[in-house]
Amino acid sequence: MELAAVILAAGEGTRMKSSLPKVLHRVCGKPMIKYVVETAQSIGIERVVVVVGHGAEEVISSLSNVDFVVQERQLGTGHAVQMAAGKLNDPAIGGVLVLCGDTPLLGQQTLSCLIALHCDNEAAATLLTAEMAEPTGYGRVIRDDSGRVKLIVEEKDASPNERKVKEINSGTYCFKKDKLLPALKKLIPENKQGEFYLTDVVQLLAKDGERVFALKTDDPSEVMGVNSRKQLAEAERVMRDRINSRWMEEGVTLIDPASTFIGPDVALGRDTIIHPFTFLKGNTSVGERCSIGPSAHLIDTKVGNEVEIAHSVVLGSIIEDGAQVGPFCRLRPGTRVGKKARVGTFVETKKSIIGEESKVPHLSYIGDAKIGKRVNIGAGTITCNYDGFEKHETIIEDDVFVGSDTMLVAPVRIGKGAMTGAGSAITKDVPDGSLAIERSEQRTIKDWAKSRRKRKKK
Ligand code: UD1
Ligand code: CA
Repeated sequence: MELAAVILAAGEGTRMKSSLPKVLHRVCGKPMIKYVVETAQSIGIERVVVVVGHGAEEVISSLSNVDFVVQERQLGTGHAVQMAAGKLNDPAIGGVLVLCGDTPLLGQQTLSCLIALHCDNEAAATLLTAEMAEPTGYGRVIRDDSGRVKLIVEEKDASPNERKVKEINSGTYCFKKDKLLPALKKLIPENKQGEFYLTDVVQLLAKDGERVFALKTDDPSEVMGVNSRKQLAEAERVMRDRINSRWMEEGVTLIDPASTFIGPDVALGRDTIIHPFTFLKGNTSVGERCSIGPSAHLIDTKVGNEVEIAHSVVLGSIIEDGAQVGPFCRLRPGTRVGKKARVGTFVETKKSIIGEESKVPHLSYIGDAKIGKRVNIGAGTITCNYDGFEKHETIIEDDVFVGSDTMLVAPVRIGKGAMTGAGSAITKDVPDGSLAIERSEQRTIKDWAKSRRKRKKK
């Protein structure tokens, strides 16, 4: 029996008060819906149907390897699943897993347990529930005297007694397809919200004497639904804790986990130390024995082993083994800092290679440049890569010494082992081993300063 997944993601998320569809709000940098899709796929579910509606185009373009159906009007969770029915026709599909796009914390293991329980019992429906100290806002699971699930009642429709129930519906279910589809057709929107509730399917099946089971997780954080910005922040905190705990278990030191922000797709090597106020985002990877932070902000960046990065923003770059970056650098996309190279205080780079053991220690802008090995770039040096119309390249070959405050007006090439004089504006190529100096000769007027001071005093 094949299991297909239907993920509900059509709602507006009114309580978020946002122009962005709710399921695209991010938790640790990743849209909530992506977590749900990836969790389903991680347990081997190949057919995933996402029900979209509000901001459909945006949601569709943010996902891949899934099928979509559009729910034009959001008439309720039951109606949403009904919309996906057409995608479940294949007789090979025997079971339907229903997930909500707003429960990003649901774990792969819990989901596997739910499916196992469902299959072992040959159930018509199996729900995932949790005991919550603060169940407000969730549907409550109502059981009969013998403990069997009878129905789910929404908060808004619940009696004061029902509201006291702490067992909540997570919105995650497994259904037998040929029990689910007929029941969906019987739904009626007779409730406080005037919606077709998927939860009513449970009552319909239970009434018919079908086998309805529930798996109660002991970790309520897993089933937390995100409906408001406050819950979004709570989900962020839980996810952050999980990610940080995992890396500490893997041998990474986090000086202060509470102020360390690591994205879900980041990879870290052993004995790396992450200092406070550090953000590692996107597809960033950091090797072993590195020191990252404090206040490092790395996005889509590949860092080798034994690298030091402090107080810097690094975007779309490669930092090779033993390199040092910062403090106070901004490395923009396409930067490659070679082995044991150093990019120091107040340096900005873009689309440039800084070769092995080369140094750009202070106050520079390096853009569209290829710098060879063992080059020293003097303080204040700037590549003038833009002429107001186009960008041009600067090439600096191995063992060059660039004097402080040199303006390298691109396109220009400084040959192997050459030097430039401090304060020069270099507009022409410099041959290997030469010195290029471009500045007017110094005039010194003896005692001028001294006599000026004397005049002023009088
Ligand atoms: C739902 C459950 C509730 C459960 C809670 C868990 C129902 C009636 N209630 O309530 O029992 O405790 O989830 O988090 O199912 N959606 C659509 N189309 C619609 C309506 C909703 O696709 O017409 C999607 C939403 O985008 C969302 C999900 O379904 O991803 C859940 O909808 P939401 O409005 O958040 O339901 P809750 O009130 O939280
Ligand atoms: Ca919800």
